[in-house]
Amino acid sequence: MKEDFMKIGEIFEKKPMKARIRGWVYRHRVSKDVVFAVIRDSSGIIQCTFKKGEVSDKVFERAESLTIESSVKIMGEVKQDKRAPEGFEVRGKDLEIVHLAEMFPIGRDLSEEFLLDVRHLWIRSQKLTQVLKVRSKVFEAIHEYFHKEGFYETHSPILIPGGAEDGPTLFEVDYYGKKLHLAQTWQLYAEAVMFSLEKIYTITPAFRAEKSRTSRHLTEYWTAEAEVTWCDLDCIIKITEGLISHICQKVAKECKKELKILSRDPKDLMKVKPPFPRITYTKALDILKKDGMKVEWGKDLRTLEERKLASHYDKPLVVTHYPKDVMAFYKPKDPKDPRTARCYDVICPGLGIEIIGGSERDLDIEELKKSLKSKGEDIKDYEFFMDTRRYGSVPHAGFGMGIARVIQWICKLDHIRDAIPFPRTAKRYKP
Ligand code: 4AD
Ligand code: MG
Repeated sequence: MKEDFMKIGEIFEKKPMKARIRGWVYRHRVSKDVVFAVIRDSSGIIQCTFKKGEVSDKVFERAESLTIESSVKIMGEVKQDKRAPEGFEVRGKDLEIVHLAEMFPIGRDLSEEFLLDVRHLWIRSQKLTQVLKVRSKVFEAIHEYFHKEGFYETHSPILIPGGAEDGPTLFEVDYYGKKLHLAQTWQLYAEAVMFSLEKIYTITPAFRAEKSRTSRHLTEYWTAEAEVTWCDLDCIIKITEGLISHICQKVAKECKKELKILSRDPKDLMKVKPPFPRITYTKALDILKKDGMKVEWGKDLRTLEERKLASHYDKPLVVTHYPKDVMAFYKPKDPKDPRTARCYDVICPGLGIEIIGGSERDLDIEELKKSLKSKGEDIKDYEFFMDTRRYGSVPHAGFGMGIARVIQWICKLDHIRDAIPFPRTAKRYKP
């Protein structure tokens, strides 16, 4: 067959008389005189028919013998057909089987656990294909936004001696007999690099030995993080709003087809424009109380409470000034109310999960040490970090965004594991 192939998606746009396509068999049905084969490639699916008598006996036999996920090349005439799923079909004239697939293990109605076992095959499903396309767009949007805003992309180590966030969620690694950890965040290193580049961001894997098995926790996930000099709480929240808005606008404009298949209305994403509603943690407790949910002042918000709060808004909600004592060591006290820290979380509408956490950074070495000690940390592991407060310390702020959670929200996924090709959770590390 001559090698000038058209993507299936292009057929619906260009409506050619004839087309050559190549892809995989998505569905296959044989009736007496006709073989129906729905073919998929990365751009879409289209029905191909092979009619006895209209094609050579050899081609018809080949079409009959097809199995699900066989790879094929097909040449045929493109015809409008109301009965075909996409309104067009290819009347097959020639068919080459590139590889006749063995019996594909995924049929109908299979359990979630089984689909995770065969994730390397399930990844070809229509749903995951759409999610992966949106995921690619989200990464593109993140880079685009930061570059547009004059940020430099930079990187931090994954193998690190200390932590930064919650101690118990650190993964240990045996490093030539020494105990190291997998990074939960790039933050402490970012606060050092910031002195040379000022506005920096990264997209990096992060690791947390989460005990909680929830639909929003992975143990290995990708984050987009930013650190900015001469920036306070208001300044960093504005950058955050810009980033989330840019992602939503871009996905809404450029992933219309994918969103439709995922039953997500792009109009809802278009609405995600700054400014976002902002409330303090204390105000959030008031709202929750009116909703009949009593939270003791000083306790961090749980999923249930975040979801309830989010239900009052149709844009991402910024909650500021959480209680200092339950926050990471680097979040500074607010001088106006020292029980609270100059920090914020962003909770997305709909799903109602935290997608971003950020703060101003504490510049006071004694406060930092006190905070680290109270969390049982070894100050020695943080000596390099204290140097960032010794040589030309400046006010600064930053945040981290869980990219899989953003994708989960945008794609309306029940579970975060479908927002990443090969999920790692407390229970799942294969394939
Ligand atoms: O709120 P977190 O813990 O903040 C930090 O790590 C800061 N050091 C970031 C910074 O200021 N540079 O995590 C940031 C975000 C969360 O809001 C959440 O979206 C995501 O990372 N996240 C997870 N996503 C998936 N699975 C997990 N186990 C996650 N833990 C955090
Ligand atoms: Mg957080």
